[in-house]
Amino acid sequence: MTLPANDSTSFPIGMFDSGVGGLTVMQQLIKTLPYEHITYFGDTARLPYGSKSPETILRYSIENAIFLMQKQIKMLVVACNTASAYALENLQLMFKIPIIGVIDPGVESALQATQTGRIAVLGTKGTILSQSYQKAILHKASNAFVFPIACPLFVPLVEENCIDHPATRLLIRDYLEPLKAQRIDTLLLGCTHYPLLKNLIKEEIGEGIHIVDSAAACAEQVSVLLSHHGMQNRTTVSPNYRYFVSDNPMQFQLLGHSFLGMSIPHVESR
Ligand code: DGL
Repeated sequence: MTLPANDSTSFPIGMFDSGVGGLTVMQQLIKTLPYEHITYFGDTARLPYGSKSPETILRYSIENAIFLMQKQIKMLVVACNTASAYALENLQLMFKIPIIGVIDPGVESALQATQTGRIAVLGTKGTILSQSYQKAILHKASNAFVFPIACPLFVPLVEENCIDHPATRLLIRDYLEPLKAQRIDTLLLGCTHYPLLKNLIKEEIGEGIHIVDSAAACAEQVSVLLSHHGMQNRTTVSPNYRYFVSDNPMQFQLLGHSFLGMSIPHVESR
Protein backbone atom coordinates (compact mmCIF):
# COMPACT_ATOMS: atom_id res chain seq x y z
CA MET A 1 0.00 0.00 0.00
CA THR A 2 1.57 3.31 -1.07
CA LEU A 3 0.78 6.37 1.01
CA PRO A 4 0.34 9.90 -0.34
CA ALA A 5 3.60 11.82 -0.63
CA ASN A 6 4.95 14.00 2.13
CA ASP A 7 2.82 16.04 4.40
CA SER A 8 -0.38 14.23 3.65
CA THR A 9 -1.11 14.10 7.38
CA SER A 10 -2.98 17.40 7.07
CA PHE A 11 -5.05 16.18 4.10
CA PRO A 12 -8.70 15.42 4.81
CA ILE A 13 -10.24 12.01 5.27
CA GLY A 14 -12.64 11.50 2.38
CA MET A 15 -15.92 9.70 2.79
CA PHE A 16 -18.89 9.00 0.59
CA ASP A 17 -22.40 7.71 0.89
CA SER A 18 -25.41 7.57 -1.42
CA GLY A 19 -26.76 10.62 0.40
CA VAL A 20 -27.11 12.03 3.90
CA GLY A 21 -27.00 8.66 5.72
CA GLY A 22 -23.22 8.50 5.90
CA LEU A 23 -23.33 11.53 8.17
CA THR A 24 -24.12 9.07 11.01
CA VAL A 25 -20.65 7.65 10.36
CA MET A 26 -19.13 11.12 10.08
CA GLN A 27 -20.62 12.06 13.46
CA GLN A 28 -18.73 9.18 15.09
CA LEU A 29 -15.58 10.04 13.16
CA ILE A 30 -15.70 13.59 14.51
CA LYS A 31 -16.14 12.27 18.08
CA THR A 32 -13.25 9.84 17.75
CA LEU A 33 -10.91 12.04 15.71
CA PRO A 34 -11.75 15.66 16.53
CA TYR A 35 -8.72 17.15 14.72
CA GLU A 36 -9.12 15.47 11.36
CA HIS A 37 -10.34 17.40 8.34
CA ILE A 38 -13.14 15.59 6.54
CA THR A 39 -14.47 15.89 3.00
CA TYR A 40 -17.85 14.23 2.54
CA PHE A 41 -19.60 13.41 -0.70
CA GLY A 42 -23.30 12.49 -0.77
CA ASP A 43 -24.49 11.14 -4.11
CA THR A 44 -27.96 12.56 -3.58
CA ALA A 45 -28.82 12.60 -7.29
CA ARG A 46 -28.57 8.81 -7.48
CA LEU A 47 -29.88 7.72 -4.08
CA PRO A 48 -31.00 5.09 -3.18
CA TYR A 49 -28.21 2.61 -3.82
CA GLY A 50 -30.00 -0.12 -1.87
CA SER A 51 -32.29 -1.10 -4.74
CA LYS A 52 -29.73 -0.80 -7.58
CA SER A 53 -27.85 -3.58 -9.35
CA PRO A 54 -24.34 -4.58 -8.22
CA GLU A 55 -22.84 -3.22 -11.48
CA THR A 56 -24.47 0.17 -11.02
CA ILE A 57 -23.43 0.42 -7.37
CA LEU A 58 -19.85 -0.42 -8.33
CA ARG A 59 -19.81 2.17 -11.11
CA TYR A 60 -21.24 4.90 -8.85
CA SER A 61 -18.78 4.02 -6.10
CA ILE A 62 -15.79 4.25 -8.44
CA GLU A 63 -17.00 7.62 -9.71
CA ASN A 64 -17.46 8.88 -6.14
CA ALA A 65 -14.00 7.68 -5.15
CA ILE A 66 -12.39 9.38 -8.17
CA PHE A 67 -14.16 12.63 -7.27
CA LEU A 68 -12.79 12.47 -3.72
CA MET A 69 -9.29 11.47 -4.84
CA GLN A 70 -9.23 14.75 -6.78
CA LYS A 71 -9.77 16.55 -3.47
CA GLN A 72 -6.45 15.15 -2.22
CA ILE A 73 -7.68 12.93 0.56
CA LYS A 74 -5.37 10.75 2.64
CA MET A 75 -7.85 7.96 3.36
CA LEU A 76 -11.27 6.94 2.07
CA VAL A 77 -14.20 5.74 4.16
CA VAL A 78 -17.00 4.05 2.24
CA ALA A 79 -19.75 5.03 4.65
CA CYS A 80 -22.54 3.38 2.67
CA ASN A 81 -23.27 -0.24 3.59
CA THR A 82 -24.54 -1.12 0.12
CA ALA A 83 -21.46 0.40 -1.55
CA SER A 84 -19.20 -1.33 0.99
CA ALA A 85 -20.88 -4.62 0.09
CA TYR A 86 -20.41 -4.31 -3.66
CA ALA A 87 -17.45 -2.01 -4.23
CA LEU A 88 -14.99 -2.02 -1.33
CA GLU A 89 -12.67 -4.70 -2.67
CA ASN A 90 -12.51 -3.14 -6.12
CA LEU A 91 -11.81 0.30 -4.69
CA GLN A 92 -9.03 -1.11 -2.50
CA LEU A 93 -7.43 -2.63 -5.61
CA MET A 94 -7.83 0.51 -7.70
CA PHE A 95 -6.49 3.19 -5.38
CA LYS A 96 -3.32 3.46 -3.35
CA ILE A 97 -4.56 5.18 -0.21
CA PRO A 98 -6.09 3.19 2.69
CA ILE A 99 -9.80 2.53 2.12
CA ILE A 100 -12.20 1.10 4.66
CA GLY A 101 -15.88 0.27 4.62
CA VAL A 102 -18.51 -0.19 7.29
CA ILE A 103 -19.21 -3.91 7.11
CA ASP A 104 -16.17 -5.31 8.91
CA PRO A 105 -16.43 -2.80 11.76
CA GLY A 106 -20.14 -3.62 12.15
CA VAL A 107 -19.39 -7.31 12.26
CA GLU A 108 -16.67 -6.76 14.88
CA SER A 109 -19.15 -4.86 17.07
CA ALA A 110 -21.81 -7.53 16.69
CA LEU A 111 -19.40 -10.32 17.56
CA GLN A 112 -18.20 -8.42 20.61
CA ALA A 113 -21.79 -7.92 21.76
CA THR A 114 -23.22 -11.39 21.18
CA GLN A 115 -23.08 -14.15 23.74
CA THR A 116 -25.18 -16.73 21.94
CA GLY A 117 -23.94 -16.08 18.38
CA ARG A 118 -27.52 -15.54 17.21
CA ILE A 119 -27.33 -12.29 15.27
CA ALA A 120 -29.92 -10.51 13.12
CA VAL A 121 -28.74 -8.16 10.40
CA LEU A 122 -31.01 -5.47 8.98
CA GLY A 123 -30.03 -3.78 5.72
CA THR A 124 -31.13 -2.60 2.30
CA LYS A 125 -32.18 -5.18 -0.27
CA GLY A 126 -28.80 -4.86 -1.96
CA THR A 127 -26.80 -5.31 1.23
CA ILE A 128 -28.77 -8.36 2.30
CA LEU A 129 -28.68 -9.93 -1.20
CA SER A 130 -24.91 -9.46 -1.34
CA GLN A 131 -24.64 -11.66 1.79
CA SER A 132 -21.62 -9.57 2.79
CA TYR A 133 -22.62 -9.36 6.44
CA GLN A 134 -23.64 -12.99 6.60
CA LYS A 135 -20.33 -14.15 5.09
CA ALA A 136 -18.20 -11.80 7.19
CA ILE A 137 -19.87 -12.97 10.42
CA LEU A 138 -19.54 -16.65 9.56
CA HIS A 139 -15.96 -16.15 8.44
CA LYS A 140 -15.08 -14.87 11.91
CA ALA A 141 -17.42 -17.06 13.92
CA SER A 142 -18.32 -20.21 12.03
CA ASN A 143 -20.76 -21.37 14.71
CA ALA A 144 -22.84 -18.16 14.57
CA PHE A 145 -26.43 -18.08 13.30
CA VAL A 146 -27.23 -15.09 11.12
CA PHE A 147 -30.78 -13.90 10.44
CA PRO A 148 -30.74 -11.34 7.59
CA ILE A 149 -33.72 -9.09 6.95
CA ALA A 150 -34.06 -6.56 4.12
CA CYS A 151 -35.97 -3.47 5.21
CA PRO A 152 -36.34 -1.46 1.99
CA LEU A 153 -38.92 0.98 3.37
CA PHE A 154 -36.82 2.27 6.27
CA VAL A 155 -34.66 4.57 4.12
CA PRO A 156 -37.55 6.49 2.50
CA LEU A 157 -39.28 6.83 5.89
CA VAL A 158 -36.19 8.36 7.46
CA GLU A 159 -35.52 10.53 4.40
CA GLU A 160 -39.10 11.81 4.59
CA ASN A 161 -38.64 12.63 8.27
CA CYS A 162 -41.37 10.15 9.27
CA ILE A 163 -39.58 8.72 12.30
CA ASP A 164 -42.46 9.65 14.60
CA HIS A 165 -45.19 8.60 12.19
CA PRO A 166 -47.28 5.61 13.40
CA ALA A 167 -46.67 3.87 10.06
CA THR A 168 -42.98 3.62 10.88
CA ARG A 169 -43.60 1.68 14.06
CA LEU A 170 -46.00 -0.65 12.24
CA LEU A 171 -43.43 -1.34 9.55
CA ILE A 172 -40.69 -1.98 12.08
CA ARG A 173 -42.99 -4.45 13.84
CA ASP A 174 -43.74 -6.16 10.55
CA TYR A 175 -40.09 -6.43 9.45
CA LEU A 176 -38.98 -7.71 12.85
CA GLU A 177 -41.79 -10.25 13.20
CA PRO A 178 -39.79 -13.21 11.79
CA LEU A 179 -37.11 -12.58 14.41
CA LYS A 180 -39.45 -13.18 17.34
CA ALA A 181 -38.97 -16.96 17.18
CA GLN A 182 -35.23 -16.85 16.55
CA ARG A 183 -33.96 -16.05 20.06
CA ILE A 184 -31.40 -13.57 18.75
CA ASP A 185 -29.36 -11.68 21.32
CA THR A 186 -27.84 -9.11 18.93
CA LEU A 187 -29.26 -7.00 16.15
CA LEU A 188 -26.91 -5.28 13.74
CA LEU A 189 -28.09 -2.14 11.99
CA GLY A 190 -26.47 -2.61 8.59
CA CYS A 191 -27.55 0.63 6.98
CA THR A 192 -26.57 4.26 7.44
CA HIS A 193 -30.16 5.37 8.09
CA TYR A 194 -31.14 2.84 10.72
CA PRO A 195 -29.39 4.47 13.72
CA LEU A 196 -32.13 7.10 13.52
CA LEU A 197 -34.71 4.35 14.10
CA LYS A 198 -32.72 2.74 16.89
CA ASN A 199 -35.05 3.70 19.74
CA LEU A 200 -38.13 2.45 17.93
CA ILE A 201 -36.39 -0.76 16.91
CA LYS A 202 -35.30 -1.26 20.51
CA GLU A 203 -38.86 -0.85 21.75
CA GLU A 204 -40.21 -3.29 19.17
CA ILE A 205 -37.56 -5.99 19.48
CA GLY A 206 -37.85 -6.00 23.25
CA GLU A 207 -35.55 -6.05 26.26
CA GLY A 208 -32.15 -7.67 26.48
CA ILE A 209 -31.14 -7.55 22.83
CA HIS A 210 -27.94 -5.69 21.95
CA ILE A 211 -28.44 -3.26 19.11
CA VAL A 212 -25.20 -2.36 17.38
CA ASP A 213 -24.32 -0.25 14.38
CA SER A 214 -21.12 0.07 12.48
CA ALA A 215 -20.58 3.82 12.76
CA ALA A 216 -18.67 3.94 16.06
CA ALA A 217 -16.66 0.81 15.27
CA CYS A 218 -15.81 2.21 11.84
CA ALA A 219 -14.51 5.43 13.43
CA GLU A 220 -12.33 3.33 15.77
CA GLN A 221 -10.89 1.43 12.82
CA VAL A 222 -10.13 4.67 10.97
CA SER A 223 -8.28 5.88 14.05
CA VAL A 224 -6.27 2.65 14.30
CA LEU A 225 -5.45 2.75 10.59
CA LEU A 226 -4.31 6.38 10.76
CA SER A 227 -2.00 5.62 13.68
CA HIS A 228 -0.74 2.50 11.98
CA HIS A 229 0.31 4.54 8.94
CA GLY A 230 1.50 7.54 11.01
CA MET A 231 -1.08 9.64 9.20
CA GLN A 232 -2.90 11.43 12.03
CA ASN A 233 -3.19 15.16 11.60
CA ARG A 234 -0.49 16.67 13.78
CA THR A 235 -2.12 20.05 14.25
CA THR A 236 -4.95 20.72 16.67
CA VAL A 237 -6.52 23.65 14.87
CA SER A 238 -10.25 23.44 14.34
CA PRO A 239 -10.84 21.06 11.48
CA ASN A 240 -12.37 21.91 8.18
CA TYR A 241 -15.47 19.94 7.12
CA ARG A 242 -16.50 20.15 3.47
CA TYR A 243 -19.70 18.69 2.07
CA PHE A 244 -20.35 17.98 -1.60
CA VAL A 245 -23.52 16.60 -3.15
CA SER A 246 -24.61 15.63 -6.64
CA ASP A 247 -28.07 17.22 -6.20
CA ASN A 248 -29.91 19.81 -4.12
CA PRO A 249 -27.45 21.20 -1.53
CA MET A 250 -30.29 22.83 0.42
CA GLN A 251 -32.14 19.55 0.98
CA PHE A 252 -28.91 17.93 2.19
CA GLN A 253 -28.26 20.81 4.55
CA LEU A 254 -31.74 20.58 6.09
CA LEU A 255 -31.93 16.82 6.45
CA GLY A 256 -28.26 16.39 7.29
CA HIS A 257 -28.63 18.12 10.62
CA SER A 258 -30.43 15.16 12.24
CA PHE A 259 -27.96 12.63 10.81
CA LEU A 260 -24.86 14.57 11.83
CA GLY A 261 -26.17 15.94 15.13
CA MET A 262 -24.95 19.43 14.27
CA SER A 263 -25.73 22.05 11.69
CA ILE A 264 -24.11 22.06 8.29
CA PRO A 265 -23.20 25.62 7.38
CA HIS A 266 -22.41 25.16 3.70
CA VAL A 267 -22.90 22.47 1.06
CA GLU A 268 -21.22 22.54 -2.34
CA SER A 269 -22.44 21.03 -5.61
CA ARG A 270 -20.14 18.58 -7.28
N1 DGL B 1 -26.53 4.42 2.46
C1 DGL B 1 -27.29 3.24 2.15
C2 DGL B 1 -26.73 2.07 2.97
O1 DGL B 1 -26.14 2.23 4.01
C3 DGL B 1 -28.76 3.43 2.44
C4 DGL B 1 -29.43 4.38 1.49
C5 DGL B 1 -29.49 3.87 0.07
O2 DGL B 1 -30.15 2.85 -0.22
O3 DGL B 1 -28.84 4.50 -0.77
O4 DGL B 1 -26.89 0.94 2.55
